[in-house]
Formats: sequence, C-alpha cells, structure tokens
Amino acid sequence: MSFDVRKIREDFPILAQMQRGKPLVFLDSGASAQKPRQVIGAMMRCMESAYANVHRGAYYLSETATEAYEASRRAVATFLNAARAEEIVFTANSTMAINLVAHCYGRGILKPGQAVVTSEMEHHANMVPWQMLRDAHGIELRYVRVTDAGELDLEDLAAKLKDGKVGLVAVTHMSNVLGTVTPAAQIARMAHEAGAKVLFDGSQAAVHRKVDVQALDADFYVFTGHKLYGPTGIGVLYAKHALLEAMPPFLGGGDMIATVSLAGSTWAAPPARFEAGTPAIVEAIGLHAAIDYVTAIGLPAIEAHERALVDHAMAVLSQVEGLSLLGRAQDRGGVFAFSLDNAHAHDLSTLLDRAGIAVRAGRHCAEPLHERFGVEGGTCRASFGLYTTPEEIDFLGAALVKAREFFA
Ligand code: ALA
Repeated sequence: MSFDVRKIREDFPILAQMQRGKPLVFLDSGASAQKPRQVIGAMMRCMESAYANVHRGAYYLSETATEAYEASRRAVATFLNAARAEEIVFTANSTMAINLVAHCYGRGILKPGQAVVTSEMEHHANMVPWQMLRDAHGIELRYVRVTDAGELDLEDLAAKLKDGKVGLVAVTHMSNVLGTVTPAAQIARMAHEAGAKVLFDGSQAAVHRKVDVQALDADFYVFTGHKLYGPTGIGVLYAKHALLEAMPPFLGGGDMIATVSLAGSTWAAPPARFEAGTPAIVEAIGLHAAIDYVTAIGLPAIEAHERALVDHAMAVLSQVEGLSLLGRAQDRGGVFAFSLDNAHAHDLSTLLDRAGIAVRAGRHCAEPLHERFGVEGGTCRASFGLYTTPEEIDFLGAALVKAREFFA
C-alpha cells in the first residue's frame, strides 16, 4: 500500500463526520487514536462468529478463539522484532505493563538500597509506579534532568548511573508532551554498562517509528493498543525471556498457575504467569488488526509522513505571534505542546473546539515536566496521527491567530 493520506482517511469513519456543523479536525491522537474499519470489522467478526473464552475450552470455538488470541501475540512479537512470542505479555495498557514491571521486577528482583532511574520527562505512568516502589521497597529514585531544548540530559544520566547502585533505567522512548524521541539504543548501552536493566515506555514511539527491541537491546518495552489505532483495554509488555522466567507473578488467579492445592500454588511459565483471569480477547484481535493495518502501510512511510507534518507544523506554528512551544528537540515526533500569550490552556482549547479542532489541554499526565518548564497552569497539545493532513495544521494555525485576537 502506498501512502495516500486521502485514501487512509477513508478507512476512519469518524473522520468524515461533521461536528456541530463543522468538519472534525482531530489533533488528539497522542491521547487516543481513531480506529480504522479494519479494526472495527475484526472485532465485530470475532464477536459475531468466533468468540469464546481462550485457553479453557476443548471445543472448536474456544480453540478458534485461542488460536486468534495467540496469533495476535505472534503479530506483536513480529511488530517489535522480539526473539519469540513468549516474550510478549498482554496487559490492559502501558500503565499496567509498567506497574507489572514495578511489582514483578521491582519488588521481586531489585533489593532495597538499589536505585531506579527515571526522568523529569515521564508520563505519570512511568513515574508514579517507581515512587510507589521507592516507598514500599526502599528503592532510591533518581530523575534524569531534561535540557531546555527538551532532551534527556545524557551527562546527567551518566552521573546517575556512576555508583553502580542502579538496577533499572525506566524512560520514555518519545515524550507525550515534547514530542522528543530519546536515543534509546544509547540509553540501553549506558544502562547495561552500569549493570542496570532498561525499560522504555513506547506508548507514543511505537505508533510513529519502527521499534526493534533486539536492535535497541531493550530489557522491557511497553506500548498500548489504543494509541496504535487499536482498541482500548489491551497493552503490551515485551520483556527478555530470561527476565520473565525469573520474575514472580503480579496478579493471582486463573490461567497463571501450574498447580493449585489448598496448601499453595505453583506458577505457569511466562507469558501465562503474568496473564491472570480472562484476558481482553476481542481487544487482542483488534490489536492484531491494527498491527496488520499499520504494517501494510509501513512504519517507514508513516514516519516519513509524520516528519513532513512536523516540519510543516514548525513552520506554521512559528508564524503565530505569542505562541510558545514546549521543547525543540532535534529528534521529535508529531506532538506539540504550546501556550498562547497568557491564555489559559482550557480557554484556548475551548475556543479551538468551537472551530472544530480537538486538542488536549492541561498537563497531559506530566505535571513535573510542566513545572520544569514553568508552565504549571498547563499547555494545549496538538498530536498527529497517520491520517493528519497539512491542511489541518494550517487550520490550527489560522484558528490560533484568531484566538489571539479574541483574547486580546
Ligand atoms: N497518555 C495519554 C496522553 O498523553 C492519555 O494524552
């Protein structure tokens, strides 16, 4: 499939709808992306004709559903270039995947007195679980600084790794506020040289770039289905198999056991050990359809489209007087947080919404980062998907100019 944004937009029914008499300009894909017919159809077909619980029934329908669920796991493994499908654990979302690592690796393997390194740039999902681990397990928590340009300060990372006490570096692969893409392979090398494991929060990055967990040498990599044009309720934890084998489970219940007696239980091998209870079956099938969808278009083509959008947005937004962008990283994706003079972010987003433009307003689950840049009151954020067009960015630019006149 060649990249034709007009044709791609036809796959997304919601983008064709009018909103209060105006065309929808959806610039909040960083929060959650819209869904193509291919995903919606796959989920409907599963529920209409191929649905039963998985791993439990010995009858045809259950075997069919189990095969489809496991085929999704294999598709995720291929998508991330994992060495084997058993390295893929399905979770509810990225947040749950990181919490799983905080429990199973953090409490299960790390020892009190060791340290976890995260950064000022993180989404709360990659910060709060480590704070909870610190408080419950005596782990020291260190935050890598962010430069004025919005990049991770790698000298600071090196300094924080120096004493050899760090057991895990957990950082984003792409900031959900600044759009910054972090140098993941270099970070992994630095972590490993210091004897630490590394986790990347790929919630934003996996949507925009080809991720190869083996090339990155990631120990843990997480992403979520709903930002990748798939459904909510399904996320992914990739972990090297030896780590999964060494880790105790997080949740107890059905499917994660080898044996259960009144005296106690033993655990199943990974990934089942980490998937207690009936999983998100229909959502896993939807995620598979989403992966097939983006793979057919091609991540390199998606990335090229986005690079063009980023350049265009830089040109358009820099023409808007009074607009301040948060972060100007060299390597960045299609996420732009901004303020307009002293307008409150919520007022600005309400005005944009009246023009039919959907952006996110607030602190985008990254309060420390907003504090770091002195914008505690929040920002507006425009974030792009594979269906975003340059015309939509022009429309945003024009609406911002009008908003400025309105606030003046
Ligand atoms: N994490 C999502 C965002 O950045 C919700 O908007």
